Amino acid sequence: MTIDTKRIREDFPILKREVHGKPLVYLDNAATTQKPQVVIDALVEYYSSYNANIHRGIHALAEEATGKYEATRQKVADFIGAPDASNIVFTRNTTESINLVAQAWGRKFLSAGDEIVLSTMEHHSNLVPWQILAKEKGLTLRFIDIDDDGQLVAADIERYIGEKTKLVAITHMSNVLGTINPVREIADRAHQHGALVLLDGAQSVPHLPVDVQELDCDFLAFSAHKMLGPTGVGVLYARKELLEEMDPFMSGGEMIRRVELEESTWNDVPWKFEAGTPNIGDVCAFSASLDYLSDLGMENVRAHEIELVQEAVRRLQNVPGITIYGPESAASKGGVVAFNIEDIHPHDLGTVLDRHGVAIRAGHHCAQPLMKRLDVVATGRASFYVYNEPTEFDALIEGIEAAARLFRAPVHTGA
Ligand SMILES: Cc1ncc(COP(=O)(O)O)c(C=O)c1O
Repeated sequence: MTIDTKRIREDFPILKREVHGKPLVYLDNAATTQKPQVVIDALVEYYSSYNANIHRGIHALAEEATGKYEATRQKVADFIGAPDASNIVFTRNTTESINLVAQAWGRKFLSAGDEIVLSTMEHHSNLVPWQILAKEKGLTLRFIDIDDDGQLVAADIERYIGEKTKLVAITHMSNVLGTINPVREIADRAHQHGALVLLDGAQSVPHLPVDVQELDCDFLAFSAHKMLGPTGVGVLYARKELLEEMDPFMSGGEMIRRVELEESTWNDVPWKFEAGTPNIGDVCAFSASLDYLSDLGMENVRAHEIELVQEAVRRLQNVPGITIYGPESAASKGGVVAFNIEDIHPHDLGTVLDRHGVAIRAGHHCAQPLMKRLDVVATGRASFYVYNEPTEFDALIEGIEAAARLFRAPVHTGA
C-alpha cells in the first residue's frame, strides 16, 4: 500500500467505534469523509482560544482569527495551484459555489439563445441551478452523453461545444460512476469557442492532484467536508478578472466598500462575495485538513485509491448477479464503485450491510438523470478514502452474501 493506513486510522477517532456490535467499515466517503483528530482539535482551538469576528476588530483575538482565516485562503490557493489567494471565495459547499456562478456570472452575462453544455452524469448541484437560469434567461442546455463504459461520448463533446456555447459546466469526477473526465481537452475546446469552463470538483479535489492552471478551468467548485474538513465550508475558485466583473451574489455586511442610503459600492474580490459573518471556525479547521492531505501527498492518495478500487472490483465481480457501473479501467476511475445485485434492492442491501457495520450509500446519489440513463432506479455505492484498507472488503462481501441469502431464499408456499 502506498499509504500507511494502520497509522492513519489512529488519527480518526470515529473509526474506533462499533455499529450494531461490529467494527465500523465506512465506505460512504463520496457523501462525506470522516475527520482526523487534528481537524477536530483545530475547531475546538478556535472556539477555546481565539474566537472573534474577522476583518473588523482591532483587538488581538480578531487579528488572530482574521490571520488564520486568510491564511487558510492562501492554503486553499496553494492546494489547487491557484495564482493568488484572491481567486478563492469561501462558500458553504459545492452547491453554493455553483449557484454563485449561476447567479453572479450567468445572470449578468448570459442571454436568450446562449447555450450551456453539461453532461448526463451531473450531480443535481451542477444541473438544477442551470435549469433555473435557463428558464429565466431563455438559454438552451445541451448534454454530453455517456457510453457503455461510463465515459463521456467524444462525438458529443465535439457536437455540443460550439459557437453558441457560453459555458461548459461539467463534473471532473462522477460521484456515481467514478469516471474521471478529460477536462483539459474539454477546456481547450470550450476556450477555442470563447466559452468558459466550470468544473464541479466535489469528488476530484479530495481524491486527485488538481491544478487549476494545468486544467485551465475558469471556475472550480468543491466542499471541505469531502476532504477531511468540517461541514459548512465550500470553495469557489475563479479567475480574478471574472470575479471582478461579476455582480455580487449575496449582499449586506462585509461585501461593501461604501454604503449610502440609496446605493453602495463593493469590496475588493474575493470579499465582495462573502457577505455577512462567514463560517470562521470551520474555515480555520479546514486548514488542518489541507495540511493533513498535503502531508500524505495527493499523488499517494490517488495511488492508494487505485489499489482500493481494483481490489474492490475484483472482489465484487465474483458476486453472482452483480452489475458494476462506470469505467472498467482503474486509471479512468476514482475511488467509487456503484453496483446493483439482481433481486436485491440497493436499500435492502444497504440495511443488511449496516447490520454488519458497513456504511455504503444506496439511492439515486443526487443524479436522477444518470439513473434514468443507466435504466435503474437506484444503485448501491461503496466509496473510499485514505483510511480504507482492502481487509474491510471482507465485511462488505460477507454483508452482501448475507443479503443474498435473505432475499434470494426459496419461497415457502405453505402447501
Ligand atoms: C459530484 C458532486 N457535485 C456536487 C456535490 C454537492 O456537494 P455539497 O453537498 O457539498 O454541496 C456532490 C456531493 O455529493 C458531488 O458528489
